[in-house]
Amino acid sequence: MTTKEPLLRVVNLQKFFPARRAGFFGHSRGTIQAVNKVSFTLNAGETLGIVGESGCGKSTLGRTIMGLYKPSGGKVFFRHKDLGSLAGAEQIAMRRHYQMIFQDPYASLNPRMNIYDIIAEPLRTHRLAASPFELSLKIRELMDRVGLPATMARRHPHEFSGGQRQRIAIARAIAIKPSLIICDEPVSALDVSIQAQIINLLQELQRELGVAYVFISHDIGVVRHVSHRILVMYLGGVMEQAATEQLFTAAAHPYTQALLSAVPLPDPRRERQRQRIILRGDLPSSLNPPKACLFQSRCPHAFEPCGKTPPPLDTITPGHTFACHLPHSR
Ligand SMILES: Nc1ncnc2c1ncn2[C@@H]1O[C@H](COP(=O)(O)OP(=O)(O)OP(=O)(O)O)[C@@H](O)[C@H]1O
Ligand SMILES: [Mg+2]
Repeated sequence: MTTKEPLLRVVNLQKFFPARRAGFFGHSRGTIQAVNKVSFTLNAGETLGIVGESGCGKSTLGRTIMGLYKPSGGKVFFRHKDLGSLAGAEQIAMRRHYQMIFQDPYASLNPRMNIYDIIAEPLRTHRLAASPFELSLKIRELMDRVGLPATMARRHPHEFSGGQRQRIAIARAIAIKPSLIICDEPVSALDVSIQAQIINLLQELQRELGVAYVFISHDIGVVRHVSHRILVMYLGGVMEQAATEQLFTAAAHPYTQALLSAVPLPDPRRERQRQRIILRGDLPSSLNPPKACLFQSRCPHAFEPCGKTPPPLDTITPGHTFACHLPHSR
C-alpha cells in the first residue's frame, strides 16, 4: 500500500481573538473563538470546499493557514514542514508555494500600481525572471492565460471591472506556480454570469497546473461544483467532512442536513416536495459558544449528552466524519 502524503495538513488549528469593548480602558473581555480545533488534510491537485454561515470562521481559518494570523493553538504542515517552525529565508522560500485570493480584489490589489507591476511583484520577490525581457514575457503569458489583453498591462486596477480584477489577482497568484491557493469567497462579489467564468478559469488552472485549492464560500451550490471534498463549519468548529457527493447524498450531521435543505433543487417538483429544516433560535456568539456540542442550542435532535461532553469525531465511512452524539445508521 502506498501512503500518499498530503500537501497540506491542518491539525487542531485554533484562532482566538480578544474581545474588546469600547470604554472602560478597552480591556479584553473574554475571547472570540473564531477557529476551534479544526483538522483536515488536502492532497495535491485537490479542492477542499469550506462552507458555513457568516461568522463561522472560514476567513479566519484561511488567514491562519496562510500565516497572516498566528495560530492560538494547533499546527499547519505544508509538504511535511511545520509552518510555525519556519523563519527567515526558509519561510520566504516556502511562501512561494501557497497563495491566497480574496473576495474583493479591489482591496487586495494596490491601486497605485499598474497591472504589470502587480503581477511582476511576486516574480521579482522570488527572483523568478532572469532579465527584464524574460519578466515581460512571463507577464504577457500570465495575462493571456487569465484572459486579459496584454495591451492593458499599464492600466491601474480602478480601470477594470470586478471580474477582470479577480483575473488580475489570479494571474498574480499563479505567477510563482504555487501548489496551493486559498480562495476566500473569490466569486461572491461578482455577477452570476461572471462567477461562472472565474470558476471555469480556476478549474482550468487546476487541471493545467495541478494546483490544490481551499475554496471558501457560503454558497453551497458553488462549493459543490468545484470541490472534491467539503468541510462544514459552525461556530469555528468542524461539524462534518466528506467527499462532495457523499455529503450531498448522505449528510449525517443535523447542521449539514439543515444547511443542505436550504439549497434550491433544479427540479421544481422535487423542490416543492422537499422539507426545509428550519433551525430554532439564533446563531450563538463565538464570544461565548455553547460548551460541549457547539450546535446543541439549535439542533432539532439535541439530547442530554450534547450539553455535557463534546461529541467525538465519528467515522461513518472512510473519509466521511462527523462530530455528533447521534448514532448514525448510514
Ligand atoms: N481580526 C479580528 N478581530 C476580532 N475578531 C475577529 C477578527 N476577524 C474575525 N473575527 C471574529 O471571528 C469570527 C469569525 O469571523 P470570520 O470572518 O472568520 O467568519 P467568516 O466565516 O469568514 O464569515 P463571512 O462568511 O461573513 O465572511 C467572527 O465572530 C468575527 O467577528
Ligand atoms: Mg469570510
